[in-house]
Amino acid sequence: MKKKSFLITAGPTREFIDKVRFLSNPSTGKMGFSLAEEIRARGYDVLLVKGVVTLPVPSGVKAVDVVSAEQMKDAVITNIEKYSALIMCAAVCDYQPVDYISGKIKKSDSALTIRCKRTPDILAHVMKEGYKGFKIGFAAECKNLAHYAKDKLQRKNLNIIIANDISKPDRGFAADTNAVSIFTDKGNRVDLPLMPKRELASKIVDFILDYIGCNSGCSQ
Ligand code: C5P
Repeated sequence: MKKKSFLITAGPTREFIDKVRFLSNPSTGKMGFSLAEEIRARGYDVLLVKGVVTLPVPSGVKAVDVVSAEQMKDAVITNIEKYSALIMCAAVCDYQPVDYISGKIKKSDSALTIRCKRTPDILAHVMKEGYKGFKIGFAAECKNLAHYAKDKLQRKNLNIIIANDISKPDRGFAADTNAVSIFTDKGNRVDLPLMPKRELASKIVDFILDYIGCNSGCSQ
């Protein structure tokens, strides 16, 4: 069996408006770090491309620090060919300000308008680069979970998408627990119930390794 390795993105990105203000989201990186720890514990090489988070890097995992979506894209594109699978667990901020204001915007009593544009779609860039590895994405949805997840699976050319319903308080961003539904490019659906993220990571990794035919190990 051919040796497998994983590039995992985790945490939020920050899109700076000026020197001291940014757009972001409440992601803490827990899910991505748990996946990195679990995959490394099974003997695979793991590179974690991580946004600003406070969690320690799991032992034996290589890490690259990034701040913005643009930097995350560059780090993924620079490193991806060395890894046979990509797990895009990061909560990439969808918008970035059109203009970065150097220094600090002086506050005033009038409303402030910030014009935004879309951040680069990292998975689209990976596809454009012709990456042939296995691709796993995440989707955080507030409604129509299955519909949106299946749409993203196709549109983003993924092999697996792992979706969670963030309308409930005990799952998704920053929670210690999560429940997910996994959808695959072969049309399967598997639901994993609410449990601690570390335990869930183990079940997700079991599923991924099984799906790529590595249940007896492809780490050597
Ligand atoms: O944000 P969205 O739900 O569309 O994210 C779906 C997947 O796409 C996730 O795996 C996420 O990490 C990835 N993504 C990306 N580039 C972006 C936004 C999201 O690769 N700019």
